[in-house]
Amino acid sequence: MRLSNAEVLKLGGRYLELIGGRPLSTQEKESFIAETVDSYEKHINRGFLTYRKSVTEAGQFAALEWSGEGALLRDLLGREYIDCLGGYGIFSAGINHPRILQAVRDQMGRMALNSQELLEPWRAGLARLLAAVTPGDLGCCFFINNGTDAIEGAIKLARLYTGRNVFVSTLGGFHGKSMGSLSLMGKASFREPFERGLQDVRFVPYGDADALDREMAILEAVGQLPAAVVLEPVQGEAGGVVPPDGYLARVREICTHHGTLFIADEIQTGMGRTGKLWGVDHAGVTPDIMCMGKSIGGGVMPLSAFVSTPKIWEVLVPNPIIHSTTFGGNPIACVAGIAAITVTLEEDLPGQAASKGDYLLSELRGLMRKYPGVLTDVHGKGLLIGMEFPTDPIGFKCAAGLFRRGVLVAGTYSKARTIRIEPALGISMDLLKEMLNRLEDTLKEIAKER
Ligand SMILES: Cc1ncc(COP(=O)(O)O)c(C=O)c1O
Repeated sequence: MRLSNAEVLKLGGRYLELIGGRPLSTQEKESFIAETVDSYEKHINRGFLTYRKSVTEAGQFAALEWSGEGALLRDLLGREYIDCLGGYGIFSAGINHPRILQAVRDQMGRMALNSQELLEPWRAGLARLLAAVTPGDLGCCFFINNGTDAIEGAIKLARLYTGRNVFVSTLGGFHGKSMGSLSLMGKASFREPFERGLQDVRFVPYGDADALDREMAILEAVGQLPAAVVLEPVQGEAGGVVPPDGYLARVREICTHHGTLFIADEIQTGMGRTGKLWGVDHAGVTPDIMCMGKSIGGGVMPLSAFVSTPKIWEVLVPNPIIHSTTFGGNPIACVAGIAAITVTLEEDLPGQAASKGDYLLSELRGLMRKYPGVLTDVHGKGLLIGMEFPTDPIGFKCAAGLFRRGVLVAGTYSKARTIRIEPALGISMDLLKEMLNRLEDTLKEIAKER
């Protein structure tokens, strides 16, 4: 409903006061929570209020996120949660990392966005840094704001370079939800309502290089060799699905043999999440295009990129605005990226993910043996871990039980019976142990009920 200017100004002014940090009484907090729920119902999507089963089943669907640091976050009422969801992978450096925040604040004080016409120094600086930390001769960068757009750009680049338009993706793969990236989605529930998608995409089972080899031979036989094979080094949304050893190297070989580009979607696996800086580093392979997003923005700014080699990039040179976007490569996002890479190396976040991931996987396997009817499988690499439950309702129960005990997790997009654990890579051992205690308590409760 349209309001008068005076009423709009009153509302906006009140929000700005709260943003500015005006302290709130308990009563004001409660009424602000009720107002927020009402706004979600009327103006965002009321489905979202009940969709998040962990919080809804815990009877706390109105918990309102307010502040956080590291691996902890707090709601408006001051309740504290151990964040084991990490914003679906954006908080690898933790929430509000001071060094990253400071870089963004410094740049904000100079210029937050860019004129578009002059050269942008931090876009250039971030590209130079990325060239220095990505494998092989990857190092030509295009920056945007979210993962799906990084994939869109990679799809366009692969088509432009190869002149082909077929793509190969994997079952269970997740690459975003805009029309192009959605077409690579290996999960029916998200793609079915929008069939047919934009791309001519063939699917192969993830982790099965022989199946890819066979599919490529078929495509060659019918004159439809693909522009690219797109896959995640470890499937993230599928819940930390790790391919067999040797898989990525075979994918690389098969792609090279057919003149097909290998696009590695490192949007969730990148920046140390799996225990090395990039997921492909475990296999020592260099893809033709690497997509990154989520934690590259340091958990402070939205930032993503697709990165390729000078040879492939050459097709973008004659018309450098053949692919462009207004906010891509803006200075505050790029300084966040620069700070995120610096912090990732300085704090050895990949090494921390590797050792803490090994510890967590072994503890979780212990719990699996102790509660076999409840926790049925555990898998993952580094701190990208999935726990499997026998059914979706049990998965919900576990997420809700953890939420009630002050631990934030969520099911995957693919299935609620798979719960992922994806905390800040620098999470302290004390917090990890505390999380495991609360998890055991939850599993015990569920086992008793069954
Ligand atoms: C591997 C992977 N690719 C792409 C995306 C899409 O990224 P965004 O949600 O930022 O568009 C995601 C998001 O979860 C992802 O995990």
